[in-house]
Amino acid sequence: MTILVTGGAGFIGSNFVLDWLAASDEAVLNVDKLTYAGNLHNLAALSGDPRHIFVRGDIGDAQLMGALLAQHQPRAVLNFAAESHVDRSILGPAEFIQTNIWGTFQLLEQVRAYWAALDASAKATFRLLHVSTDEVYGSLAASEPAFTETNRYEPNSPYSASKAASDHLVRAYHHTYGVPVLTTNCSNNYGPLHFPEKLIPLMIVNAQAGKPLPVYGDGMQIRDWLYVKDHCSAIRSVLAGGRVGETYNIGGWNEKPNLDIVHTVCDLLDELKPRADQQSYRTQITYVTDRPGHDRRYAINARKIERELGWKPAETFETGIRKTVQWYLDNPQWVAQVQSGAYREWVATQYAQA
Ligand code: NAD
Ligand code: TYD
Repeated sequence: MTILVTGGAGFIGSNFVLDWLAASDEAVLNVDKLTYAGNLHNLAALSGDPRHIFVRGDIGDAQLMGALLAQHQPRAVLNFAAESHVDRSILGPAEFIQTNIWGTFQLLEQVRAYWAALDASAKATFRLLHVSTDEVYGSLAASEPAFTETNRYEPNSPYSASKAASDHLVRAYHHTYGVPVLTTNCSNNYGPLHFPEKLIPLMIVNAQAGKPLPVYGDGMQIRDWLYVKDHCSAIRSVLAGGRVGETYNIGGWNEKPNLDIVHTVCDLLDELKPRADQQSYRTQITYVTDRPGHDRRYAINARKIERELGWKPAETFETGIRKTVQWYLDNPQWVAQVQSGAYREWVATQYAQA
C-alpha cells in the first residue's frame, strides 16, 4: 500500500513523512514542486530508503499527477502543497491563486478520475485528505468563542482566501461527485524544520544573529499554537477514522499574544545560549509597521476531533517551544542552508533534467 503526499518537502509535510515512516512501512510517494519553502534536506534521514519515493512536480500538472496516480495506485492522497506565508501573499498573491486554488482544482480533477476507476473495495476505502488552516474563519474579537467547524468562512488575506477557495472546491467534489474527502483546519504550527520567515523560527534565528526581532504593530495579536508533531498525529487520526465529507478543526488550546511568544523564545535562548554580553535577547525586540489587514485573533475549538477520534495534543506550549528552540540550536547547518540559497542552486543543478 502507498499514500501520496503533496508538499512533503515543506515544514509540515516533511514532519509528516518522517513521522509516518517512523511508525509504518507503508510507502510514501512525495510530490513537491520544491519552491523556496521546500527543502529535500528535511528528508535526508530517508535517503536510500525505498519506502520514500520523491518526485519533483507541481500539483497543478494534470498529466504528471494523473500518471503518478495510475502508476502508484495510492489508497490515499494527502494535500499539504500550498503557498503558505501571509506576508508573501500580500506582496504577491498570484502564486497563491495558482497553487492553492488552480493547483488544488487540478489535483481534484485527477483524483476524481482515478477514484472513479477504482474497483468497489478500493473505491470505498480511498481518501483525499486536504490540509487547511484556521485562517479561513477570519478574525475573532477578544470576547468571541473559538472557531468551530460550523463557523462562517470569512478569510481576510489573499493566503486565507485562496485556502478557503480550495476548501470549497474539496467540499464540492465530495458533494457533487462523491469523492471521499476529509478536510482539516489547523491553527499555527511550530517546531523543527520551520522555514525562518515565520514568527517563531525567525525570532530564534534573528536573535542569535544579533538582528532585530520585528514585532508587527502592538504585538498583541493572538494565535493558537500547536507543535507540528501533534498536527501530524491529528492528520493520521483523521485519515484513519474521520467521517467522509467532514471537516475537523485541530488546535493546541494555546492562545497566546505574539509578544508572549517572542518573550518566551528570548527567555529560552537566554537560558540555553546566553548572549556574550549577558544582556537578554529581549533587548533586540523592535516594533515595526503592522501587517495590512492583520487578523487580531485566531482560536480553535478542537472538541470535535477529540470527541470523535480521541485526539489530543501531546505537547504543551512549554514543552514544545523548548524542544523547538533546542532543535534550532542543534541544527545551525540546516538554517544556513535554507537561508543561503545554496540549497536551491543545488536543486536547480540536480533536477535540471527533471
Ligand atoms: P510550507 O510553505 O513550509 O510548505 C509547502 C510545501 O509545498 C513546500 O515544500 C513547497 O515546495 C510545496 N509546494 C508549493 N507549491 C506547490 C505546488 N504547486 N505543487 C507541489 N508542491 C508545492 O507550508 P507548511 O507550513 O508546511 O504548510 C503545509 C500545509 O498546511 C499548507 O496547505 C498550509 O496551508 C497548511 N497549514 C499550515 C499551517 C502552519 O502553521 N504552517 C497551519 C495550518 C495549516
Ligand atoms: P506567521 O508566523 O507569519 O503566521 P500567520 O500570519 O499565518 O499567523 O505570523 C504569526 C504572527 O506573528 C502573526 O500575527 C504575524 C506576527 N509576526 C510578527 O509580529 N513579526 C514577524 O516578523 C512575523 C513573521 C510575524
